[in-house]
Amino acid sequence: MLINLAPPVSLDFLDGYLFRLLQEILAERGAEKSGFFDYYATRVTGKLGGLMEYEERLARYLLAIFAGHHVVHAGTGVGTLPCALACNGMTVTAIEGLHARVESAQRLRCAIVEIWPEVGQRYDIIEGTFPEALPTTQCGPETILVFTNVASAWNEQQETSIIQSMQRFGQAVLDLRLFGHVRNDEADRKELFSRIAATARSAERLPNVGANLDAHYARFNFLDHRP
Ligand SMILES: C[S@@+](CC[C@H](N)C(=O)[O-])C[C@H]1O[C@@H](n2cnc3c(N)ncnc32)[C@H](O)[C@@H]1O
Repeated sequence: MLINLAPPVSLDFLDGYLFRLLQEILAERGAEKSGFFDYYATRVTGKLGGLMEYEERLARYLLAIFAGHHVVHAGTGVGTLPCALACNGMTVTAIEGLHARVESAQRLRCAIVEIWPEVGQRYDIIEGTFPEALPTTQCGPETILVFTNVASAWNEQQETSIIQSMQRFGQAVLDLRLFGHVRNDEADRKELFSRIAATARSAERLPNVGANLDAHYARFNFLDHRP
C-alpha cells in the first residue's frame, strides 16, 4: 500500500474492515443476539461487504457537500454509515432503537476507535427511538439529519412526528423509497417528497446519488441559511 491508514480513511478499506468485523460478530453471537437477523447476516453470508453501495454513495455525497458538519443518523442499525462518515472528519450521532443492534454498533465503534482514536470524540451512539430519545442539544442549523433504509412500518403518527422533527435541523437527507415503509411506486415517492418539501425552505431530489441502485435520495433544507 502506498498510503498509510491515517484519515481520511478510504471507503474501500473500510468496506473490507467492516465486513471482517461483521463476520466476527456474526460467528460469535449469532444472527439474533447480534441483532443482525437476515438484514446484516446476508451481508456476511452473501459476501456483500461491510458497506453497501447505497451507503458508500451517500457517504461520498455527504462528505463532499457537508464536510465537517454534524450528522444525526436516525435508525442507524449497526452503524456502518456513521463509521464511514466519522472516519472522514464528520461528527456523527447515531440513534437506534434495537438493543442488540446498538451493542453491535458499539462493538464496531470500538474496533474503529482502536485504529483511529480521534474518531472516538466524533462518533456517539444513542439507544432509543428517534426523535424522542435525541437530546435537543444534538439538533441545530449545522446538523444534517440522515435516514437510510428505515422502512420499519412506522404508524402515521410516528411518521408525522418524524417529519415535524426535521424542522429542528439544518437539512434532512433520506431515501424516499425506504422511509417508514417501502414506496416502490414513483407516485408514492413524489407524494412523500411534496409533503416534506411543503414544510421545508427548499428541497431537491438527488438522482445521481442513488442512480442504478433503486435508491431515491432527496435533500430538504430547513434551518440552513446557506444558498
Ligand atoms: C433496516 S435497518 C437499516 C439500518 C441502517 N439505516 C442501514 O441503512 O443499514 C433499520 C433500522 O432502523 C431502526 N429504526 C427505525 N425507526 C427508528 C426510530 N424511529 N428510532 C430509532 N431507530 C429506528 C430499526 O430498529 C432498524 O435497526
